[in-house]
Amino acid sequence: MTNSKKRIFSGVQPTGNLHLGNYLGAIRAWVDMQHQYESLFCIVDLHAITVAQDPAKLRTAIRETTAAYIACGIDPVKNIIFPQSAVAEHSELAWILSCNTPIGWLNRMTQFKDKAGKDREKAPLGLYSYPVLMAADILLYKTTHVPVGEDQKQHIELARDIAGAFNRNFNAEYFPLPEPVIRAEAARIMSLRDGTKKMSKSDESDYSRINLTDDVTTIALKFRKAKSDMIDGMDFDESRPESKNLLGIYVALKGISKEQALHECGELNFSAFKNLITEVAVEHLSPITQKMRELLAEPDYLDKILQDGSNRAKEIATKTMSDVKNLVGFLQV
Ligand code: TYM
Repeated sequence: MTNSKKRIFSGVQPTGNLHLGNYLGAIRAWVDMQHQYESLFCIVDLHAITVAQDPAKLRTAIRETTAAYIACGIDPVKNIIFPQSAVAEHSELAWILSCNTPIGWLNRMTQFKDKAGKDREKAPLGLYSYPVLMAADILLYKTTHVPVGEDQKQHIELARDIAGAFNRNFNAEYFPLPEPVIRAEAARIMSLRDGTKKMSKSDESDYSRINLTDDVTTIALKFRKAKSDMIDGMDFDESRPESKNLLGIYVALKGISKEQALHECGELNFSAFKNLITEVAVEHLSPITQKMRELLAEPDYLDKILQDGSNRAKEIATKTMSDVKNLVGFLQV
């Protein structure tokens, strides 16, 4: 049964193809949770522009991400699906929260350190303050639960700290402290080319990831070319990151236990296992890819979903901003 006090917010950046990591680490949990929680699923385009984007590609990617959410099983009628930039209150709240966030907290964020690279002085301010915008996304809807992959955990902990700071500074128990929801079995899906590196949209090699738009031949080729080792059998041993990762993907796709996976595949060599996981992945992903194609042929339908979602999100956002302005001491003339 829906409990109106429990609310989910989560999002994906529209910066290219969604991959198996986004799907297994985040979207699959959304699909499972959408019926127990009031849910907002955002296409976080404001976050996307913290790295330079081609405007035409960004527009396409926003529709593709929307299509992916629906194709993966998110119900656009029950839930709110919308682009972040359509609700200006995200940016507005981010500013107010940034005035309540010590710089020292942002300096601890590991993602900024990774993304900014060596020449940190040249990194855009938006990349640095990105986690404050993320806190605003979450708090604007007084979100209680945030389903994400493990790489976002630190950002959600920061959102909790920022919520606490705001509540303290204005002497109000206003924002709930959001809980991260991270699924153990798919918390961190690794690159197919290097089992110690996260599967990521920004990896130069497309062979490092399975995209939700990949066809059967491409999926088979990517698994065939995936890095392997020379040891017999498949296991979850830390010393065999590629075996551990592929078996983990198998567990997550099939929804079985690790023990069951070892029972089914422990004796297989890498190449036999690659054939098996290709079959499982294709069976699981083909309907999603097909549905995405159908949806992308109907951009007007997708835009209507986004417009409807934006209107519904805005209703909640306006109310929060009015409360926040009141607490801060702004005149609402
Ligand atoms: P983004 O776009 O990098 O990733 C979207 C979601 O996919 C998860 N994910 C993974 N999970 C497991 N293994 C992987 N290899 C993997 N790669 C990505 C991410 O953890 C994430 O859940 N800052 C966020 C987007 C965001 C957001 C928010 C999320 C903006 N505002 C508010 C939650 C709440 C991001 O860049 O995700």
